[in-house]
This record gives sequence, C-alpha cells and structure tokens, in this order.
Amino acid sequence: MDAAATALCERLGLELPIIQAPMAGVQGSALALAVSGAGGLGSLPCAMLGHDGIRSELSAITAGSLKPYNVNFFCHTPPVPDVERETAWRRRLGPYYRELGIDPEQIPAGAGRTPFDELTADILSEFRPPVVSFHFGLPAPALVARVKAWGPMILSSATTVDEARWLEANGVDVIIAQGLEAGGHRGMFLSEDVTTQIGMFSLLPQIIEAVGVPVIAAGGIADATGVAAALRLGAAAVQIGTSYLLCHEATTSAVHRAALTSAAAKHTALTNVFTGRPARGIVNRIVAEVGPLAPDAPRFPLATSAILPLRAKAESVGSDAFSPLWSGQNATGCKEIPAAALTQELAAKL
Ligand SMILES: Cc1cc2nc3c(=O)[nH]c(=O)nc-3n(C[C@H](O)[C@H](O)[C@H](O)COP(=O)(O)O)c2cc1C
Repeated sequence: MDAAATALCERLGLELPIIQAPMAGVQGSALALAVSGAGGLGSLPCAMLGHDGIRSELSAITAGSLKPYNVNFFCHTPPVPDVERETAWRRRLGPYYRELGIDPEQIPAGAGRTPFDELTADILSEFRPPVVSFHFGLPAPALVARVKAWGPMILSSATTVDEARWLEANGVDVIIAQGLEAGGHRGMFLSEDVTTQIGMFSLLPQIIEAVGVPVIAAGGIADATGVAAALRLGAAAVQIGTSYLLCHEATTSAVHRAALTSAAAKHTALTNVFTGRPARGIVNRIVAEVGPLAPDAPRFPLATSAILPLRAKAESVGSDAFSPLWSGQNATGCKEIPAAALTQELAAKL
C-alpha cells in the first residue's frame, strides 16, 4: 500500500483503506458491521433514521463489534416551506396522481431527511463513534465543536477544490473527494451550479494538491483495479457505494436491485425530482419525463413527500417508474455476495 493509505489505516485502525459509503435508505447497521468486520470501514447513514433509529442502530453496531465504524449525517439547512412552490409542483405531478388513483390532497407534507442537530449530538456523545462523516458541508461550528469533544476523526465530502479548502479551513480531518460519477446526492455546498462538478480523475489530484489533510477518492470505483488506481493517484483510501448495493446485508429494494442488474443501469443522470437536490440515479420514467433537473422542484428535502405515494403505489405492482434508483456511473461492480467478500475482492490488488 502507498504511504498515504498506510498512514490513514493506522490513524483509523483499519486493515484495508476501503470505506463502505454511507447510503441512506438502502442499508443499516448490518452492512456497516460486515464491512468493518472485513477490515474496512463500515458506515451507518443517519439522514433518514430519526433519533430513535439512530440510537438503536448505534446500539446494534456497538453490541456487534469492537471495530472502527463511521456514522454519517446530512447537514443542510432546512428550507422555509414554500406553499406556492409545493402546490405548483403537486399540480405538475397531477397527471401521475390521476393515473395511479392517488388523491394529492391526502399526501402528508414531510421533511424527508433531517440534518444533524443538538439531540443527535447528545446521542452520539453516549456512543462516541470513532469516525463521523458529513455530507453538504458541516453543521454549525458549535455543533462541530461538540462532536470534536470526544476526539473522533471528522470527514466530509468536497465536490470542488474550493469546497475542499473550505472544509480544511473549518477543521475537517479527512476530505472525501466526490467525483461526478458518484451515485446518490452530490455533496456540493458552496454552489448550486452543477456545471462546477467534475469527474474523480480530475478532482482527486487537484484536491490533494490544494490541502494538507488526507483525501479519500469516491465516485465510479467498482473493482480492485479502480481501488489500486485511486491509491496510485494519491488517495489515502476509497469510499465505495454503488458496488455494495446488491450485497446480502444491504436493504436495497427489489425494483432497485433489478434496475442495477439491467441494461438501464448504463444510463444515469443527476436529478432533483426525488428530493429537490441533485443526486445521481438510473434514468426511469419520472426522471425522463419531469427531470432530470427540474428548476421548479421544491427545495431539498421538501420534494420528497410529493413522490412518495407514487413510488409506493408503483412499487406495489413491481414498477420502478417513480423510485429513486440511486447509482453511480459504474454499476458493473454490483454483486449479490456478502459485503465482507466484496470488500476482500476490492482489496485484492493492494
Ligand atoms: C444509494 C446511495 C445512497 C447514498 N447516500 C449517501 C448518504 O446518506 N450520505 C453520504 O454521505 N453519501 C451518500 N451517498 C454517496 C456516497 O457517499 C458516495 O459519494 C458514492 O456512493 C461514491 O460513488 P459510487 O456510488 O460510484 O461508489 C449515497 C450513494 C448511493 C449510491
């Protein structure tokens, strides 16, 4: 292994410089435990868990293992609800509600995803996870200071060189360079302009040059050759999401699994129609017809509730037409095997 990877593994107590990307909505503690057990770093995504869920999943992890693990949070500022914009959006989706027999008046408004807050910091201080990672920048400085109190390593995603510099200046220990290939939400937080987003092969060396902290490569890495190449480019570790989506321990839905193994997985796009924020997923009916990037979508995460009943109804008859089929640009590494076996395969060329 290269020096940067060896040093980060030592700091994090890992055997392998492989981080299983936190993936809200498609995994819980089981996947994290499996990857940590194999010597990588398993991650628990908390954005969709709620406080009780976070507590019970952290209990499951700490009861099941003494190995290092990562706990991940979104840290967006919740928008002020905009009734006019949300009503207009539901009107735009009206033909779909009619087609599926859904009464739009009965759809409850919901947050969709919650950011890191004081109560979460209270829960974390009981468990003292060794690694905490953030997406969409960082929480307010007082909250970051509370997390730092017990000395975890703090990670956050950068999608541009400017974001990497900002994160380093604001006290992040390790930066995740999230290339444009990556599945799921763009971690972008200094700009909303998707034309600022660049691929991993361009982003990684520029961030390594710009900051003094270790840099993790994320986006489009799907096999052992890709892992070795990222480390050769100077990454201290890799963070891999999409390839873990079919693993036995993932809770990926049936329609999502089917899409990932079909020819459709060759065509992904950044879309905001599911949550209001750009995220990469396989192009399906709603993305093609309403997106991929709809300027009138409610602000993140308020777009979530309008889609949920369409998704539930369609999935009940086996259709993925309204489901977020998050995937990176390279789904060829997805395998229906235990996550520990996949982690070992990914490490085979180190
Ligand atoms: C299904 C899915 C859900 C994701 N959810 C999160 C999340 O909750 N938090 C986060 O920091 N990143 C999330 N990501 C992004 C990953 O951290 C990472 O950037 C990405 O998976 C790397 O690219 P790859 O999917 O090509 O391996 C998600 C990615 C996927 C595919």
